[in-house]
Parts: sequence; structure tokens; C-alpha cells
Amino acid sequence: MTSTITRDACAALDAADTLAHCRARFNLPADTIYLDGNSLGAMPANVPARMKQALEQEWAHGLIRSWNDADWYPAPQRTGDKIAKLIGAGQGEVIVADSTSVNLFKVLVAATRMQPGRRVILAERTNFPTDVYIAGSAAEMTGCELRCVDPDDVLAAIDETVAIVSLTHVNYKTGKRYDMEAVTRRAHEAGALIVWDLCHTAGAMPVQLNACEADFAVGCGYKYLNGGPGAPAFVFVASRHLAAIRQPLTGWHGHAKPFEFTHDYAPHPAIDRMLTGTAPQLGVIALESALDAFDGVDLNTLREKSVALGNLFIALADQELAGLGCGLASPRDADQRGSQVSLTHEEGYAIMQALIARNVIGDFRAPDILRFGFAPLYVRYVDIWDTIAALKDIIATGAWNTPEFRTRKSVT
Ligand SMILES: Cc1ncc(COP(=O)(O)O)c(C=O)c1O
Repeated sequence: MTSTITRDACAALDAADTLAHCRARFNLPADTIYLDGNSLGAMPANVPARMKQALEQEWAHGLIRSWNDADWYPAPQRTGDKIAKLIGAGQGEVIVADSTSVNLFKVLVAATRMQPGRRVILAERTNFPTDVYIAGSAAEMTGCELRCVDPDDVLAAIDETVAIVSLTHVNYKTGKRYDMEAVTRRAHEAGALIVWDLCHTAGAMPVQLNACEADFAVGCGYKYLNGGPGAPAFVFVASRHLAAIRQPLTGWHGHAKPFEFTHDYAPHPAIDRMLTGTAPQLGVIALESALDAFDGVDLNTLREKSVALGNLFIALADQELAGLGCGLASPRDADQRGSQVSLTHEEGYAIMQALIARNVIGDFRAPDILRFGFAPLYVRYVDIWDTIAALKDIIATGAWNTPEFRTRKSVT
């Protein structure tokens, strides 16, 4: 017989949590439980002071001199190097630029160019839509076919016709994750290159891009990296590919010598060749300082806490929500999960709105998914208890069933 989990037991887990001190590195409203760091990360407490300096001294006073004097120009490279440490990449293999969508386009076209004679981009049907849309355009422009298969069929679908395998490591709806090493190995055995989207991975759990011999990766700065709304994204190119990769958006910041203003394009020899135009500098500065929240954090400990939070959420859902119409949309096995747990409920949208009205913030993904993301740096075990308790009350009392909660907003 399993014993009942109590709130006191959750508080005891918080008391023993070796990452508990990291919560003070964020500005979180005291009355709010935030389980949406997989969509927009919380604001690190050091960012406002850094932005104030960037605005009032570097921009207002330094003006254009700050590109040199405040070291603005190399910020995308510096920030990329910080992110590299979180994803098992080397220094000089990651740079911050553009959005995930744009970086994916650049990488897919570039990778396809490296695979003459192969004309298939293999992706999967349940991927985040932007990944599929972008892969479709990249395929059309390079004369390739986009082949989308079900997630469980990916390994079997990798054959000698495939140029590129393009996958998201952790699925945005279910939180299910791929075995990066096994899939990368299979792609290489078949002579394909692999592109990993790390949007739901970077900052939530360690991955070892280089140990897996991954070729390319992209990911966003505003989820678990906490870079702020619309933060610039990152792109990884394994150093063995740097000399050969030719990305299609050949803007001047990717040029070998941008300030010589030459007529002909010559790609920068280093990761800088993945740049296009001028960086959204304030966004890069915010992301760069936000990454300090990871200082001294052991990524294996981060993963252990993420797994423990997810397991607790599932155990409490089993214990408290039985008979209330909820299903589990995420794998029970933590080895197959990222850092989120998704529930299903046919009234999921209204239930999530009712939860948010109680300052318990997750999000909803159509048609029926309630998503809860666990950012291990600031989510507490008692937050899980309190979320499930609120969910139980909202569903059991029908508190979700009001016109206000049923009306769809533009962003879910
Ligand atoms: C897997 C994945 N890729 C890409 C994106 C978004 O890309 P962008 O930042 O270009 O909007 C998301 C956003 O949630 C995502 O989950």
C-alpha cells in the first residue's frame, strides 16, 4: 500500500533541497505559483539593474560608442559560450541570434546543402508547428521532400534517402523526450545529419551535444534560460562542420569582415557565420545577465530536482484527482520525460483560466492539454502540492464553469 503524500512532506523536501537558495535569484510575485517557465521563464533578479545600466549609461550616455566601449559587439558570442556550458557544447560552437524559427531555417537549408544527393528532411508530426512549417519551406527551397512521421516511427524512418533528421528533444505538449544519443547514432549510421530543437531542454536538464556527436541545434532564450519575452535564440554548430556550413541568410554580421563593407559575401570563419544582421542588443544583454542564475548550479542536481518535481506532480495527481476527468499526457517514466507534466481534461481551457485566476500559472495547449512546467531553479515542492489542491477544488466544485473562464483569449 502506498502512503498518502502530505503538504508537510512536500515542505520537508523543500527544506532538504540543495537548489532552494536559487529561488532568491528570481523576482517572483510572493502570491503566485509559477509553473510556466517552459513558456516564459521568470525574471532573474539581477536583470533589472543590468538593463538600467544598459539603458541609462550604455545607450543614453555611451550612445554608439557602446558597441565598442561596453563590449556590446561580442555579446552574442559571449552569451553563446555561456549557453554552451548548459548543453554540452564547446566554446565557440554556440551563438545567440534571431529567433528559434529563423535559426532553424538557417540550419536546415545549410545542412541540406551539405548533403548533395539526398533529398529528404525527416521530421515528426507532433513537433511544434513552427518547426514543421519552417522545415516545409526549407524543403521547398532546396528541392527536398519534407517527410513527417509519428514520433514512435522516427528511428525506423531514418534510411539512406534522408539528408537531415530534424527533431525537438522534448515535445512541447507531452514533455516526452527522445534519446538524443540513440537517435543521433541512428541518423549518422544512415549518413544523415541531425538538427535538435532544444527549446524545452536548455536550462531544464543537461544534454551532451558533443558527447552524442550531434551536428546542429537551435533553441530559445525565453523559456528555461529566462532571457525575457522574445529573447534572442541560440544556434549550435559542431566545430567539425563550421568550415563547411553555408547558411542562407547571408547578412553582414555573418561576414568575415563586416566593417570593410565589401561587395562580395565571405562567411566568417567561426560560429559568427550563423549571424545575419544586427543583434537585438538589449535582448542579448538581458539574456546574458539572466544566465548568471545558473552560476554554480550542478546540472545533474538540476535534473534530479526536475525529475523529483515531475514525479511528485504525477503521484499527487493520482492521489488527489482520481475520478475528476483528468488523464496523464506525459510519460510516467521520468527517463522519457523532460521537465514538464501535462494533464488532459475536456474542459482544460476553462480549468486553466480558473487556476490562473487563483495565481497558479500553467498554460493550455489545444485541444485539451493542461501544461505544467517545472523550472528547477525556482519551483518548490509545496508549489506542486498547492497546484494539485487548487486543481482538485476547481474541478470538484465546477468553479471553472463560468463565461469568463470559458472565453478564449488570443494567447493560451
Ligand atoms: C519546440 C519549439 N520550437 C520553437 C518554438 C518557438 O520558436 P520562436 O521563438 O521562433 O517563436 C517553440 C515555442 O514554444 C517551441 O516550443
